[in-house]
Amino acid sequence: MRKKIIAANWKMNMTVGETDAFLENFLLEVNDDLGVDVVIVPPFTSLAKAGERLANSSAVKLGAQNMAFQKNGAFTGEISAAMLRDLYVRYVVLGHSERRTLFGETDEIVNKKVKAAHEASLKPILCVGETLAERDANRVEEVLETQLRGSLAGLSSKELLETVIAYEPVWAIGTGRVATPEQAQAAHAFIRKTLAAIADQAVADKVRIQYGGSVKPDNAKTLLGQPDIDGALVGGASLDPRAFAEIVKAGVVTE
Ligand code: PGA
Repeated sequence: MRKKIIAANWKMNMTVGETDAFLENFLLEVNDDLGVDVVIVPPFTSLAKAGERLANSSAVKLGAQNMAFQKNGAFTGEISAAMLRDLYVRYVVLGHSERRTLFGETDEIVNKKVKAAHEASLKPILCVGETLAERDANRVEEVLETQLRGSLAGLSSKELLETVIAYEPVWAIGTGRVATPEQAQAAHAFIRKTLAAIADQAVADKVRIQYGGSVKPDNAKTLLGQPDIDGALVGGASLDPRAFAEIVKAGVVTE
């Protein structure tokens, strides 16, 4: 069975002081290993503080929101994989729709970042998802397949197994308009089918696929109960330690 993975994507929110206060409260709620992988993804400026707070936590890991594919050099304003490793970062969100639409990241760029992350032993959380116009035009599968094939090109099976996919329909991000469990499950099943075509069924069966887009404490359980939904990438609701802890707990398998 695939272990659930719930990640908090804070985006451009939280100062160092706010990060410290959040984690102090959050760790009161989620202090021991619940059998769920939990990842906190703060802005770069809070990584060091979050790393200090999480140093003794076996349950909660650290993630970054982006990184450069270049190793080092004259790339003003960029952050490398080695710099992230240095701060005990384990996961890195790549190809988020905000990076794709606001910062011009193509599948080719995202692919380079995914490869660079693996080279540095960071686990990518690769985001894919369609816009509303693409959904209305019945192009969901075509868009997902193009993004997956482009962003995962050239990865070995071993690397694919160390990659998390996040299905984030763009129309559901930050809008309060969540995909129905049926819509999400259908997209996840299609992503898994595509992974089987890219690699093989055994690999596809093991890769974890998160859902992202207006996940809240009151819809998390139903979404996480779908057979191909293996976790959540949470934006807005992850800024509140109580709400995020509730979402994590919704991922605990009880049966
Ligand atoms: P949201 O964001 O939960 O605020 O919709 C999700 C994301 O962008 O990862």
